Amino acid sequence: MSEAEAVSNTAEPEPNSPKPVKPISFLAQLWPYLSRYKKVMAGAATALIFTSLITLALGQGVRLVIDEGILSQSLSSLNSMLAFVMVLVIAMAIGTFIRFYLVTWLGERISADLRNDVFNHLVHMHPSYFEENQSGEIMSRLTTDTTLLQSIIGSSLSFALRNALTVTGGLIMLFVTNLKLSAVVMLGVPAVLIPAIWMGRRVRRLSRESQDTVADVGSYAGEIIRQVKTVQSYAREGFETLAFGREVDKAFYVAKKRIRTRSFLLGIVMMLAFSAIAAMVWVGGYDVMTGKMSGGELAAFVFYALMVAFGVAGVSEVYGEIQRAAGATERLMQLLNETSLIQSPAVAKQPRADSEDHVRLEGVSFFYPSRPDKPALKDLNIHIKRGETVALVGPSGAGKSTLFELMLRFYDPQQGRVKIGDVDIRELNLDELRKPMALVPQQPVLFSNNVWHNIRYGRPDASDEEVIAAAKAAHAYDFIMDLPNGFDSDLGENGVRLSGGQKQRVVIARAILNDPDILLLDEATSALDAESEFQVQKALEELMKNRTTIIIAHRLATVLGADRTIVMHHGEVVAEGTHASLVATSPLYKRLADLQFGSDKLAEQALAE
Ligand SMILES: Nc1ncnc2c1ncn2[C@@H]1O[C@H](COP(=O)(O)OP(=O)(O)OP(=O)(O)O)[C@@H](O)[C@H]1O
Ligand SMILES: [Mg+2]
Repeated sequence: MSEAEAVSNTAEPEPNSPKPVKPISFLAQLWPYLSRYKKVMAGAATALIFTSLITLALGQGVRLVIDEGILSQSLSSLNSMLAFVMVLVIAMAIGTFIRFYLVTWLGERISADLRNDVFNHLVHMHPSYFEENQSGEIMSRLTTDTTLLQSIIGSSLSFALRNALTVTGGLIMLFVTNLKLSAVVMLGVPAVLIPAIWMGRRVRRLSRESQDTVADVGSYAGEIIRQVKTVQSYAREGFETLAFGREVDKAFYVAKKRIRTRSFLLGIVMMLAFSAIAAMVWVGGYDVMTGKMSGGELAAFVFYALMVAFGVAGVSEVYGEIQRAAGATERLMQLLNETSLIQSPAVAKQPRADSEDHVRLEGVSFFYPSRPDKPALKDLNIHIKRGETVALVGPSGAGKSTLFELMLRFYDPQQGRVKIGDVDIRELNLDELRKPMALVPQQPVLFSNNVWHNIRYGRPDASDEEVIAAAKAAHAYDFIMDLPNGFDSDLGENGVRLSGGQKQRVVIARAILNDPDILLLDEATSALDAESEFQVQKALEELMKNRTTIIIAHRLATVLGADRTIVMHHGEVVAEGTHASLVATSPLYKRLADLQFGSDKLAEQALAE
């Protein structure tokens, strides 16, 4: 198998296995999280058992109130029996408070811990992970799945446990209270349970389907709202509304099927359950009449029977939810078990400060994992000296930005090596590799926060004066001061409140403040008018002083300012030299220069004069 095949095979996503997960295994998977809070769990379990026992005791209370109080016609014993029941009720209230508080606390805490772990794991993942996995998918792991767990652990699970306990206890009490009647009830149980389970399964399947269709509706609306300007500019609002309506109707149709089955199920179960109770009361009533049983016993019996019935119904109701939680847990654990392909080595080396070349690419070949058939870089050999400014030019898609991604080790090349200070970057600590570099990307990236935060991003400890100095050097100070709150102004999502050129200058200020040894500039000029292009150019000149700079050039002024220019085409270096020599020797460069730098012709003439 070739290297390419090997990589493409590992990049294949695992087929989704929709096999149902056993509810117990989900608790086992969550155990590392649960076990941090053993005391809380012990407290919750104690409160749970305590309240269940009291619920069972209440049945005896009912029997005593009827037999000793009401039927014996004694007011004083009725009073004391009722007092006994009231004590039980108060104890149960306290127990319920403690149980509910602790269990909900546990649910919230564990989902918070999981969220933190998942996020921490995600920010360290290799970038191509986010190309193979849809960001919507990943976000729903982080929010929906953890929220599901929170509600399951915080309520459904304790509800199920409580019901399981009361059902077990209730069954025991039934047999203790009256053996014959219990036998009658036991005969009735399968008659109720079997159709309930059968239809419950169908309801579950339909409700999963219904959730999926609702999710479809959500993502459809999300996309349209994000692209609302395009929708409006082509006057497609009507069409989109109709299309959206169809999605909504589809969701409604599935929901309708689900509620029909569910209503049917509810009706049937009600009928069967109450028929069983009626039969029981009849048999019991007959026994009371013939004196084989006391009225209190019958009341207690009915009480336990109802408890068991509601308990079973409760467990079956949340069973589906617990299964969903099991699925969510499995997906979360799967995500947490994926390891980043880009990691610091166990023992890191230090780059040599006296190496001949600062940056060196030796026989680097690379293809993106999603495109194993098409190499983005082919056998690149580039040597860059300390303090040198190298311009990279080449047509769109030549692999210029890709080169930067490899230098920052967002990807590892399949062949060859990238070296900084004579050390393969795979042998450097990732932080130590990236800290001394600054990338000014093709598309400026800003965080929805104020100007301080955005400029300080690479050096959070920088003083206000340093930030202001960086803004001045980046020719950004004046327009920042014109913003409504100066440096405190919020820039909006990805800096929507700034123009293209202003965004770039904020990003340049960030790079200046970082004071990098190696500067990677991906020049983007398309968004700029002549004035801001001039401003950005000035800011860049400031930034490039005294450091090793690789700049992807789209302007002639940049190329002329560089020590050397490298021409790339289809992932290969096709020519290298100064502007003058390249115009003479490289037809590709000459054509690029004529087309791309056409508007800079005047500058060239001015420089020549
Ligand atoms: N994340 C990615 N996954 C797969 N292919 C990619 C990815 N990024 C870029 N490519 C492909 O790799 C090749 C090189 O892309 P690159 O972004 O390096 O080009 P470029 O020289 O920077 O072009 P431009 O001047 O338009 O920015 C292109 O063919 C592109 O389609
Ligand atoms: Mg690019």
